[in-house]
Amino acid sequence: MRPIRIALTKGRLEKKSVELFTQMGLDCSALIDKGRRLVLPVGDYEVVLAKAADVITYVEHGVCDIGIVGKDTIVEHSSDFYEVTDLGIGKCDFALAGPKGKDFFAGYNVKRIATKYPTVARNYFEGKDMDIRIIKIEGSVELAPLLDLADAIVDIVETGTTLKENGLEVIEKIMPISARVIVNMASMKLRKEEIEKFLNDVEVAKEKIK
Ligand code: PRP
Repeated sequence: MRPIRIALTKGRLEKKSVELFTQMGLDCSALIDKGRRLVLPVGDYEVVLAKAADVITYVEHGVCDIGIVGKDTIVEHSSDFYEVTDLGIGKCDFALAGPKGKDFFAGYNVKRIATKYPTVARNYFEGKDMDIRIIKIEGSVELAPLLDLADAIVDIVETGTTLKENGLEVIEKIMPISARVIVNMASMKLRKEEIEKFLNDVEVAKEKIK
């Protein structure tokens, strides 16, 4: 049988995840000094580095048993897996943000919202009974109001620096976000003992890295 495979979100969550694995007593040298390799041995596990949305795809398809991914990606995409643990790392917020000092809600025109998270944005404005037009952007969403492509953005805000440096401010927080452990539904049954061991070790280690 192949080792238990963990899909890990590249970038923002990577450093803290390495801390978590190290705290779990796993040898992370391959993960720290990875070069361009994409499948890495970490202790008895195999770690795959992937973009957040792909972490979900790999876990849903069962090619990875476990995933570490932000709640932002979970709420934006489908959820055909178990969400088992809140790691309390990678904390940030979904927020509606716009040009500083401007009343976003004023006027009757249909507002244009730029976002990487159309589902989240749509649900949020549905809750407010507001008609909006969504413009899907893949990165640096903050540019959209500056170019007058959008009236506001729905995005993740961590330190608030990106907003501040671009003359934008939070209009309303939408929901808090942090990294979660997700598990493939079949793996949870078929490889129960190994997955439970991993999850127990995570529970102990996560308290030590905060
Ligand atoms: C995210 C988000 C903001 C920024 C917020 O982008 O989209 O742009 O981080 O962080 P801050 O509040 O600490 O400034 P990310 O860096 O993940 O890159 P992306 O724009 O390519 O998605």
